Amino acid sequence: MRLVFVGPPGAGKGTQAKIVCAAQGIPQISTGDMLRAAKSEGRLPPDLAARMAAGALVPDEVVIALIDERTRQPDCMPGFLLDGFPRTLPQAKALDEMLASRSLALDRVLSIEVPSALLLERAVFRRADKRTGHIYHLKYSPPPPGAELEHRPDDREDVVQRRLDTYAAMTAELLPYYEGRGILSRIDGVGTVNEVTARIFQALEEKK
Ligand code: AP5
Repeated sequence: MRLVFVGPPGAGKGTQAKIVCAAQGIPQISTGDMLRAAKSEGRLPPDLAARMAAGALVPDEVVIALIDERTRQPDCMPGFLLDGFPRTLPQAKALDEMLASRSLALDRVLSIEVPSALLLERAVFRRADKRTGHIYHLKYSPPPPGAELEHRPDDREDVVQRRLDTYAAMTAELLPYYEGRGILSRIDGVGTVNEVTARIFQALEEKK
């Protein structure tokens, strides 16, 4: 199964992707995680790190090359879940061409939808465990004692607001593109993590 999760910052893409990937036995491919790993290993050019910290997108060609290489790995043979890619129409078209050249296609695009008022709170109180990558929320899923917590630099309130604006501008083109192809499912992302997971599995089941 080849899936895409689209959704604004803090919608729960990463949280839900980990659950769906564990259940389906497919890898989660997050361009945000790949870029942050490159930064922490000193491989990300400083201008790209600055763009991320400011809440702007990195250039299309950078993430397209990352996805092209990653989806060729053997663990992607049974499928994969793209978390946060594509984010722009050129990225979506490049992905289609990339897959078509390998005689493959996307199965579904799930848009996780949450009102902006909730998103700010979700992102600003998010913390991740440095060692395990587990995502916590200081209010809704508090970390256990001893967790080594990281606060993303782009989770500051002013930067989150900029990321939300960027997302709104970009989905104006992206969602209609997938809707027109009949592969888009809109998922209500408000509720507990388990409630949202149940809606995702229901949508995947309905479209089989
Ligand atoms: P990326 O890492 O992809 O960030 P994002 O899309 O902004 O999404 P987030 O990781 O903020 O949110 P999420 O939806 O995964 O939410 P989460 O599950 O953590 O991208 C970062 C940057 O990289 C971009 O700004 C850009 O610069 C660059 N980049 C990445 N991809 C790119 C691309 N394709 N093109 C160009 N640039 C790119 O949940 C959030 C919080 O809410 C957590 O604390 C969680 O515990 C909590 N939570 C989750 N679900 C619930 C729930 N149901 N109820 C209550 N709390 C919940």
